[in-house]
Amino acid sequence: SDPNGMVNILLKLEELFGQAIEQAFPDVKGFQVVVVPTTPNFGDYQFNGAMSLSKLLRTLGKSLNPREVAGVIKESVPSNSVIDTLELAGPGYINIRLKASFVQEQLGLLLTRGVRPPCGVEKKRVIVDFSSPNIAKEMHVGHLRSTIIGDSICRLLEFLGHDVVRMNHVGDWGTQFGMLLAHLEDRFPNFAEETPPIGDLQSFYKESKIRFDSDADFKKRAYACVVKLQSHDPVYIKGWQAICDVSRREFQKIYDRLDIKIKERGESFYQDLMKKTVALLEEAGVLKEDDGRKVMFAPGIAVPLTIVKSDGGYTYDTSDMAAIRQRIHDEKADWVIYVVDLGQAGHFETIFACAEVAGWLDRKKTRVEHVGFGVVLGEDKKKFKSRSSETVRLVDLLDEGLRRAKEKLIEKERDKILTPEELESAQNAVAYGCVKYSDLAHNRNGDYVFSFDKMLEDKGNTAVYLLYAYTRIRSIARTANITDEQIKKAVADGIPLGHEKEMKLAKLLLRFPETIVRLTVDLFLHPLCEYLYEVSTVFTEFYDVCYCVEKDRTTGQIVHINMDRMALCEATANVMAQCFSLLGLKTVQKM
Ligand code: ARG
Repeated sequence: SDPNGMVNILLKLEELFGQAIEQAFPDVKGFQVVVVPTTPNFGDYQFNGAMSLSKLLRTLGKSLNPREVAGVIKESVPSNSVIDTLELAGPGYINIRLKASFVQEQLGLLLTRGVRPPCGVEKKRVIVDFSSPNIAKEMHVGHLRSTIIGDSICRLLEFLGHDVVRMNHVGDWGTQFGMLLAHLEDRFPNFAEETPPIGDLQSFYKESKIRFDSDADFKKRAYACVVKLQSHDPVYIKGWQAICDVSRREFQKIYDRLDIKIKERGESFYQDLMKKTVALLEEAGVLKEDDGRKVMFAPGIAVPLTIVKSDGGYTYDTSDMAAIRQRIHDEKADWVIYVVDLGQAGHFETIFACAEVAGWLDRKKTRVEHVGFGVVLGEDKKKFKSRSSETVRLVDLLDEGLRRAKEKLIEKERDKILTPEELESAQNAVAYGCVKYSDLAHNRNGDYVFSFDKMLEDKGNTAVYLLYAYTRIRSIARTANITDEQIKKAVADGIPLGHEKEMKLAKLLLRFPETIVRLTVDLFLHPLCEYLYEVSTVFTEFYDVCYCVEKDRTTGQIVHINMDRMALCEATANVMAQCFSLLGLKTVQKM
């Protein structure tokens, strides 16, 4: 962790209270509870551990009521440069107020060093398995959610300094290849010599599916094709590659538009490992025969994994067992994250439990988790689909976003003040930004109603509102011609933060480190969106009452610039920019 990183104030206070408790009650270990109170009347932070500590002490034979406990702790907090006052309140709370000098100093560092990752983060090797569409099938809105959420998690963990591997576990080895290859044989008999011009893979998939479902002979041939593929017949490997390439190009278009970086390592990567995986499980004696299949049960879970099918083939379960072992053993991951819809919660619960049974996973050493999310619904609250067809093609969806974003900007007459290039950047930022933001701003566990009308609203916690707010802050400094040197000088002279609203904003900005560290506890991203929104509203409160730039009423000329406040504007914009970056949103200078 970077020693020059930003101070995580919450962590700092927890350390101080931890020391206080250790000093006052040496037999109590690892106990500290500091929170941000619901109202500023209760301080900037609050210690609220006295109630449970009092109970705990009683079990150790010490009888002190919570207020007495809080009183002792308050007196035991070591001297420090962070806390101004501690105030005993209610049944046993301690309200904590920060020293103005500490806030000023930290704000200064924020401005001179930039928005840095917080200190105190232990570096981990993390594999994030996300996006992971299936080859030849449409990448659907569920995969879009996984892509957006997974990318933001990667951005967060990368910013915190972790070693992150972004992994695309594409479905490129399933039985669907049987029918695709059989259809390929008929349509492009020459496919082994020349790259087959498949064109639209979607209709190719549909055609082969229709034949598979209606033609018994075709079905037989499809099964034969899977066998040939899985035994690495070079001709069929060629065909398989050709099909994968078409898919890959389609996926890449989406990733490019959304600015997503990800490395492909699909199910096919685990072909050989699957054999080994099965052998290891067999040796360990954890497989059970079931009607010709080999299955594996985890304690307390009713549905087993199917490790080997009755025809000897492997399954999705087999590949995930091979993958988890490979990730822990060979990749040496400390943390494996699967960003997949909640429909697969049971699958991952079983995979993790079986990996423990097999002795491959020790949860004390390796953190594994399924980051689930709800289904995408249309505005009618039914399964999301387009008017004309069953599923929505992602390219069409993004195109509609672009069209609607442009409409919105023209409605606000932005085309009159922006150059065509600026308008286009704004259009892109709004379109892709609103699709990402409205997904990330909702609790991911809920179902999610996809509505361009809602996400393009310019009021409330939306991308459009926030991107506007951001450009407005940046434009304050631009119109006043403020230079970096002037900001640096203001910092060097000391920023007084004399106005209550200035202090409130500064303290909120300094909560950035603890806010993002908190996200790693459960990998919910909506609190970051709430924080970003709070920053923009608290900024507005400040800007409404604190003049930054004073202009002559008649001439409109600038008569006075308050450089301390300009510095605060700059700090706000920098923190917001970093939040946008973690969420995968692009900002623009003008909008
Ligand atoms: N391809 C799968 C699907 O579309 C998702 C794969 C997720 N990752 C994993 N390791 N199982 O449902």
